[in-house]
Amino acid sequence: MRTETEIHPQASAKAGLGTGLAPARRDPSTLIRRRGLASAAIARCLGLLALFVSSTGAEANPYQDYAAACRAQIGEIPAFSCADGVTIPVTINGVEPAGYTPGMTCDRPSLLPNGPESDGQCVPGSRILDLSTEDKQISVMCRQKHIRPADSLYFDEIDIIAHNPASGATCWFQASAVSASHIDGTTIPSPTDPASSTFFNAPQAVVHDGCGTCHDNDPFMYSPFVGQVWDHVPVNPFGLYFHVDTPGLGFDTWPTTHIAPRDSTCTGCHRIGVHETCGQLTDWATARALIPGADPRGASYPLSHSMPPFHGLTERAWDTINTAAVDDIAACCLDPTQTFCNAKPIPRGE
Ligand code: HEC
Ligand code: HEC
Repeated sequence: MRTETEIHPQASAKAGLGTGLAPARRDPSTLIRRRGLASAAIARCLGLLALFVSSTGAEANPYQDYAAACRAQIGEIPAFSCADGVTIPVTINGVEPAGYTPGMTCDRPSLLPNGPESDGQCVPGSRILDLSTEDKQISVMCRQKHIRPADSLYFDEIDIIAHNPASGATCWFQASAVSASHIDGTTIPSPTDPASSTFFNAPQAVVHDGCGTCHDNDPFMYSPFVGQVWDHVPVNPFGLYFHVDTPGLGFDTWPTTHIAPRDSTCTGCHRIGVHETCGQLTDWATARALIPGADPRGASYPLSHSMPPFHGLTERAWDTINTAAVDDIAACCLDPTQTFCNAKPIPRGE
């Protein structure tokens, strides 16, 4: 079992620049705290800078360029209210407690690290909203990192994934509350509206956040936390997948390689990406690492073995069916260039 407890997307993103593969992810010296106060502040500064530059004249606005490319390749993403989303439950021993306290444990903690300034991994009130249409898949997460009154529509972060299944084109948007503040979730503007550059983080900050280093096998992510409202999350496990980019941003530096060892019981339902999906996320899904914030129920079988989802197996059967495949994934994650790992580019479309 590894002791590493956080996911470090920036380190992965940098490691991925040269080879598309992941070895430096394990190097503790490259570990960078993600998504804290600092990144929110940087995001805000970049946003203000972009605004300043655009208001002073002819300079390009990176947000507007990115939004235009996303509009062209995926289509309009509408304005929305988080109030229309479904709340993700936070339970202890299967029931929602009467109250929540900072740092408490729960059955299905959020896997995305909420950061040291947060109230931990068991914060109630986050919402998921599926804005998918006939020709696009759009998933929204309105995230709570701080405990607020039940039904509060103030959030700490808004995350949006927009995907065109016909071409694979995928865009990423994020708005972050400045520490101790909040975002009013009832009036989220359209990310593809050029005027929204004042609301959402600058695309450079989104690249820095490294969405695609965790969402590295396909756009949409399963975790026991979101699995509770799984019918509100779009899926597209084997579709074309690439990141829309505009000059100078760097979405195209995110990893685009997956591994496909032969006879794997783990790759029948989805690809396994070479960054976090094969690493920390597989460890958490197969009880090879403790999930931060898990209570005793969450840390023991079956909740400790969240893959395949809702499997209903005995622990013995699970081990018989999956142990060899998980060993292969772990070995390939350390060195995906081994022949048996069958590493290849994710089909990208155009
Ligand atoms: C450190 C890994 C990591 C990074 C970086 C990351 N995510 Fe996620 N994301 C997750 C995990 C894990 C989930 C599942 C929910 C959970 O357990 O927290 C998730 C869920 C989501 C969801 C809900 C729908 C779904 O697929 O489950 C959206 C929307 C989303 N992320 C958008 C983003 C955006 C936008 C960014 C970048 C600004 C981003 N994510 C960066 C790990 C990550
Ligand atoms: C019966 C189908 C099925 C099998 C078998 C399965 N998974 Fe998954 N898994 C899913 C689905 C569905 C998702 C979420 C959607 C996606 O990633 O495309 C998912 C997501 C994941 C994720 C989270 C990252 C992400 O992209 O959402 C990891 C890690 C993962 N699986 C690992 C494994 C491992 C390891 C095994 C083998 C022990 C395995 N899976 C077997 C269905 C399956």
